[in-house]
Amino acid sequence: MWGYDSNYFRSNLWSIIVFYGKTCYNKIGDIMLENTKNMLEKAKNEKYAIPHFNINNLEWTRFILETCEEEKSPVILGVSEGAKKYMVGFSTVAEMVKAMIRELNITIPVALHLDHGSSVASCKEAIDAGFTSVMIDASKYSVEENIQMTKEVVHYAHDKHVTVEAEIGHVGGEEDGVADELAYAKVEDAVRLAKETGIDSLAPALGSVHGIYKGEPKLDFERMLKIKELTNLPLVLHGGSGIPDVLIQKSITCGICKLNINTDLQIVWAKSVRQFLNENQVVYDPRKIIKSGEQAMKNMIKEKIYLLRSNGKA
Ligand code: 13P
Repeated sequence: MWGYDSNYFRSNLWSIIVFYGKTCYNKIGDIMLENTKNMLEKAKNEKYAIPHFNINNLEWTRFILETCEEEKSPVILGVSEGAKKYMVGFSTVAEMVKAMIRELNITIPVALHLDHGSSVASCKEAIDAGFTSVMIDASKYSVEENIQMTKEVVHYAHDKHVTVEAEIGHVGGEEDGVADELAYAKVEDAVRLAKETGIDSLAPALGSVHGIYKGEPKLDFERMLKIKELTNLPLVLHGGSGIPDVLIQKSITCGICKLNINTDLQIVWAKSVRQFLNENQVVYDPRKIIKSGEQAMKNMIKEKIYLLRSNGKA
């Protein structure tokens, strides 16, 4: 097998050096995507947070990758099930992201992550398409069912070097047109989910919500700290837009290692595009229209990277 079948050797060389913490190349020439294991552990140890930016189309993916590369920040590209549908399926997204990393010569660690996977089947589909990380969000079920579904995903994912995030309690607010109530995570449930499933990161609902806040978020830092100490897992804060900077910074000191951001990027992008269209009534080239939000979005991405202190951590 090793000796003279050079094709076999070439195509398996990189598979052989793949190890759990860092999914390198699948085979020669295939582009690098990482799972979140190393990036979140490093963030936990050095007390900063990795930005998770949701991607909604090709242009957003480019804006995010270019800015993170410029700031040498690791990044998690989040894809919701709505965005997956919009972008024609998980494999379209995975192939696009890998091709873009190659074409743009991106060198920073990039994880491709399913955001709020609503079923075991959805997580498996993303994994099979090449995602390196998945979130199973079974938070609307009983704790017992949540544990069972999460366990099943972990089993499938870890076998393929893919990392898993799970949610406990319920992050409220509005995402992809779905509105929901916030329910704070119970510490004992968070500990059970962590210990009984073998997840790699945990998203406990602690007062943040998706979308635009009505009033100031009431983050429960005491509970955050307790969950961090009892689970020893990197914690994830969803609904990262619209939270005052001081609260984000405090969250990082209380165990948050990943901040999910979508709405803030949507708001600045849409504002810029609206202004551009108002000032350029005759423009009709979609490339010019979408690109008119580029600078505003890149500024916001940069701002978030510095807020999380992930710059220079690649
Ligand atoms: P925001 O849209 O509030 O930034 O939340 C994003 C998010 O949590 C994705 O999972």
